[in-house]
Order: sequence, then structure tokens, then C-alpha cells
Amino acid sequence: MTSRIRFALPLLLLLLGASLPAHALSSANDKAATQAGATLFGQKGCAHCHGEAGVGGKKGPSLTNLRKDKEWTPARMTNQILNGGQKMPSFSDSLTDTEVAQLVTYLRARHKPASPPVSARQSVQPAQ
Ligand code: HEC
Repeated sequence: MTSRIRFALPLLLLLLGASLPAHALSSANDKAATQAGATLFGQKGCAHCHGEAGVGGKKGPSLTNLRKDKEWTPARMTNQILNGGQKMPSFSDSLTDTEVAQLVTYLRARHKPASPPVSARQSVQPAQ
């Protein structure tokens, strides 16, 4: 039930957005969303498995070329993040729809900003 709403809401926002003058909004918004996505990628633990900036790690594949892969549509990426996979946890409880959209925007961006450095507390946790 709730998963339907999760998919319906971004679609609705997309339709609403389509009626606004796209040129005025898109590029500045995309940049902000990409930057926000980069921050989330570090903060929410994606980098723990997928490596810094998604270059790939011991626990997760590289995500850097995903934007060129036609099979990985934004919808499929959204679905992977919300529901997880075989070895990836679900993030539907820990991310808002906006945050998921920012992560997908980040993964689809041509030039990916680096996520900010981790805090001292995060960096003392043992690497696994
Ligand atoms: C516990 C390790 C782990 C964490 C944390 C994790 N992932 Fe993954 N992720 C994986 C693995 C392993 C796969 C490969 C498919 C599978 O097993 O689900 C994957 C696959 C993906 C894919 C599909 C790409 C592909 O080639 O399969 C995307 C997109 C993705 N992850 C994004 C994210 C994002 C964004 C986050 C943070 C919100 C995240 N992942 C957090 C382990 C992780």
C-alpha cells in the first residue's frame, strides 16, 4: 500500500514540475540536488559499501557508470534504494522521497561532487 504512494508521489511532483518553466528551475535545482545527494551518499552509509563517491568497494559494486546503463532507469534506481537487493538493505524507512530523489540525481550526474569529509566520530569506527 505505502509503496504505491511512494511511487505515485514523485510522479505527481514530476507532473506538477512539468508545468513550470523548466529552464528557470532545472539547472540550479539539479546542482543543489546533486550536492545534497553527495552528502547523503556519505552520511547514509552508501559509501560504506559502494566506496567513496560510489567507485565500488568490498561490499558493493561501482555505481559510477550506472547513468550510462540504459537498464538502470531512475525508477529502477529508486526501487533499488527503497527496497534494497540481495545484499543491500532497504532504505525506505531511513530516507525521505526527496532524499531518494537527490541520491538518484547524484548517481545520474555527469560530474559528481565528492561527499564532504566524515566527522571524527565516524572515522574512528573500524573499517569492515
Ligand atoms: C550493506 C552494503 C550496501 C549499502 C549500505 C548500500 N548498498 Fe547499494 N548495493 C549493495 C550491493 C551488494 C548491490 C548489488 C545488488 C544487491 O545485492 O542488491 C547494490 C546495488 C545498488 C544499486 C544498483 C546497482 C547495481 O549494479 O546493482 C544502486 C543504485 C545502489 N546500490 C545504490 C545505493 C545507495 C544510494 C545506497 C545508500 C542509500 C546504497 N546503495 C547502500 C550494497 C549496499
